[in-house]
This record gives sequence, structure tokens and C-alpha cells, in this order.
Amino acid sequence: MPSLSRRACTKSKGQPNLLHTAWYRHHQNPYHPQQNPDGIINLGTAENRLLFDLIQEKLADIKLDQMHEDYTHYCKLSGTDAFRQKLSAFFNRFMHPQEKIVEQDVYVMNGCGTVIETIGRSICNEGDGVLIPAPYYTGFKSDLEQRIAVKTIPVHLDCQGKQAFQITLQKLEEALEGAEDSGIPVKALLLSNPNNPLGTVYTEEELEMMAEFCYNNDLHLVCDEIYLLSVYDQNASFKSLLSIKNFHKYRDHIHVVWGFSKDFSLSGFRVGVAITKNEELQHDLGSQGYYTSVSTVTQYILEEMITDSQWLDKLVQINHQRLQQNRNLVAKKLSQTNIPFVYPKSGLFVWINLSKCMEDQSLQNETELFEQLMNNGLYLVPGQAFETKENGWFRMIISNEYQTVELALKRLLKTVRNFSSDFVQSIVRKSITFEEIGHRRGSTETVVALETSIRKLRNKKQKEMSQFLIE
Ligand SMILES: Cc1ncc(COP(=O)(O)O)c(C=O)c1O
Repeated sequence: MPSLSRRACTKSKGQPNLLHTAWYRHHQNPYHPQQNPDGIINLGTAENRLLFDLIQEKLADIKLDQMHEDYTHYCKLSGTDAFRQKLSAFFNRFMHPQEKIVEQDVYVMNGCGTVIETIGRSICNEGDGVLIPAPYYTGFKSDLEQRIAVKTIPVHLDCQGKQAFQITLQKLEEALEGAEDSGIPVKALLLSNPNNPLGTVYTEEELEMMAEFCYNNDLHLVCDEIYLLSVYDQNASFKSLLSIKNFHKYRDHIHVVWGFSKDFSLSGFRVGVAITKNEELQHDLGSQGYYTSVSTVTQYILEEMITDSQWLDKLVQINHQRLQQNRNLVAKKLSQTNIPFVYPKSGLFVWINLSKCMEDQSLQNETELFEQLMNNGLYLVPGQAFETKENGWFRMIISNEYQTVELALKRLLKTVRNFSSDFVQSIVRKSITFEEIGHRRGSTETVVALETSIRKLRNKKQKEMSQFLIE
């Protein structure tokens, strides 16, 4: 058989990806309330399944036969003029930019994954590095590493304490220094705001701090705002990077990404957008359109959606209501059962800490819990997929039917309870072994000391677990 290229061989020889395997397993046996109630509930893939009624209503309204003949021929590969104009108006309305966004700032591509890869290709050479506050969205790694060989450099955020999940200048500087010490030239900082997987938003001060850091170190700042319209909690004060006070100073460094996959629940349409005022980057993004363009029919449909402001307002409002309702359900259940989590105000997910029910907080233990959840019909993504500093965190999607989320919570608690009791039993089993060892050695002192410490450990763990899973 003729061989494939080195590129293809390197990619195909990697370890089977945990998430691809999980997704495939779910796909073989997907949950359906009537047809397959014991199937696997997918709360792993970040999709919004709350808006199909509204999308369907709008699709029924759109008349494809009204589409101009030009749309059936080659169009500008960065997006049709009309779509780019309408997108500019849409961003001016929802991002409140310091400088008005115009058509030439907007580049339409087939999904945000493609946008990130394409921007990465324009700003980095092979082997260059991009800093990303971690935990971070899994896809960033493949977007940057798989085809353009750019290195992702996690800026590890603390998972506990006063500064839990907070970005600081010190952390950025340390990560930059570390990369440079290892000979990796850093070209950019990449963020998602609202944050996937945390469901939080950066403050304006944090955004200004990161923009200043990039400005001082001659880095690009790429901000993925794909969850722009999914900030459902009124207490969240989301700011687009394009709207920060000192935008003018940083304008050539800043590039924003947005797409239809989440806020419009249209991940199947494959449409993402790059927004930049940097003319050199505009030129390069424009030249890559042949490989990244979107079908004109899709652009036409989306154009119709974003210009119907009445329908759009309804979509945004109902999306917020439904996300908030599901967030409240999940937050209440997790609080009642003393499972720690980051209280989300945006996005499609909640970031949960299940480490208390794990024996040793090891990566292996996290994978075992992930497998147990799958066996009990629930797919959640474990923290290892997000480059999390500590093991035991899981991301749970909340943008699914209310009843499905309710059932998923039952499956989660059942799994955690069984996993914990296995864990307590394993401590008991281990302690018996210690006792036996002690007896065999014949030293009464050793036996007494061991027994005391084992009893303490066992009581401590049992107390922790009982606090953890009170219902
Ligand atoms: C932060 C973030 N960016 C990009 C994507 C991928 O977007 P798209 O479907 O437009 O490629 C996702 C999907 O989960 C995401 O969470």
C-alpha cells in the first residue's frame, strides 16, 4: 500500500482521544426519553439544544426562492458583501465597540475552529507558542497544534483559594518567561470570554490588564467571544474586548472571534467570524478565503436571521430564560449535595469539582470516574481535557432539555455516591491490609499506631463523604 505523508502519519498514530472515544460511544447508544431511555446522555459536547423551536419558526419564514441569482455563483470568499455588512451592524449592536465595526473588519469562515486556526496560521510560525489561561476549551489545542504546529502554553490558574480561576499579570509573566526559557517564541494570548469551561466572564480591568500585557510584549490578543449572547445572568457584567476603554491603544493587537454554533444553536451550519482592525491581518485572512469560505445559501439564511430584530430579541431573551432555568436547577442540586462548583453566569456549562469522592485525586482516578459516569449513561468531560491544574473537575453542559438535565443529575449523584462508597470501602480494605501487616510484624506499638491513624483517616473520609452527599 502506498504510504501517506509524514503529516498524516504523525496525526493518525496518536493515542485514541478520550473525548472522541466517548463521543463515539455515546453516538452508538444515544439517550432518547422514549426510544432509548437507558442510553447515554451527552452533556459533554457544548451544544445548545434549547432553541430549535425558534430556529424552526424562522427557517419556515425564509424564502430561498427570493435569493438573488448572484448567490448561486462564486461570491467574495471572505463572505458576501451583504452578510458582512449585516454582521457589522449585529456586532455594533451587541459588542458596543469603541470603534465602529465595518465590513472590511469582518471575515466569515466555516466555524470558529477554522477562524482560530486561520488567525493562528497568520500570526504564528510553526513552533511558535500561544499562551492560554487554563482550564481552557479543548478545541484550542487541536485548532493550533494539529495542522499548523503551533504550541499551546497553558497559563495554569489556581483551582482553590482566594484567587481561584483568576488571571493575574504575575501568572502571565511567569508563563511567558517559562516559554521563552524553553526556547518557544510566544506570539499571542488566546482567551475565551465568556469562559469555556468556567461559565464566568472577565472583568474590564482584567481585559485591560491582558491587553496591556500583550501590548508591552508585542503579542497578539485573540478573544473568542462565541458565547456573546449567552450571558444569561443579569448580575454578570460582560464586556467585549472591542469595547474596552483603551481599545484605540491596542487596536492592532486585538482580534475577536464569534460564531453561530452556540448563541444560535447552529453548530451544524459551520459559521464563524473573525473581527480585526489590523490591516495586515485583514489582508492575510482575505487571502485564505478559498480554504475557509462558507456556502452562500448558509450566509443568506443567517443574514435573514440577524436582520429580523424582533425574532432576534425573542431568541436572545428565551435563550437566557432557558439557560438560567437550567443553571438554577443544576446549582440547587449541587449545593444541596455539597458538591463544589463554579457558579456560572454565562455559557452552556457548569464546572464541577468531584475530587472529594476520588481516592487519591490522580489522573487515573479522574479517568475511572469518567468511565463510571459513561457506564451509568452520562457523558461529562473531565478536567484533563481542559489542561486543568488539579484533577477531579468535570464540565457539565446545561443547555439540554430540562427533564434530561434533571435525569442527568440523578445519574451523576448515583455514580458519585457509588464511586465514593467504593472509595471508602477501598480505604477500609487498605486499612485491613495495614492491620494485617502490623500484626504479622508482631509489634504492638506499630499495630496501635497504625490502627489509630487508620481509624482517624477512615472517620475523616466518611465525614467528608457524608457532608458531600447530603440530599
Ligand atoms: C470557546 C469555543 N470556541 C470555539 C468553539 C467551536 O466553534 P465552531 O463550532 O464555530 O467551530 C467552541 C465549541 O465548543 C467553543 O466552546
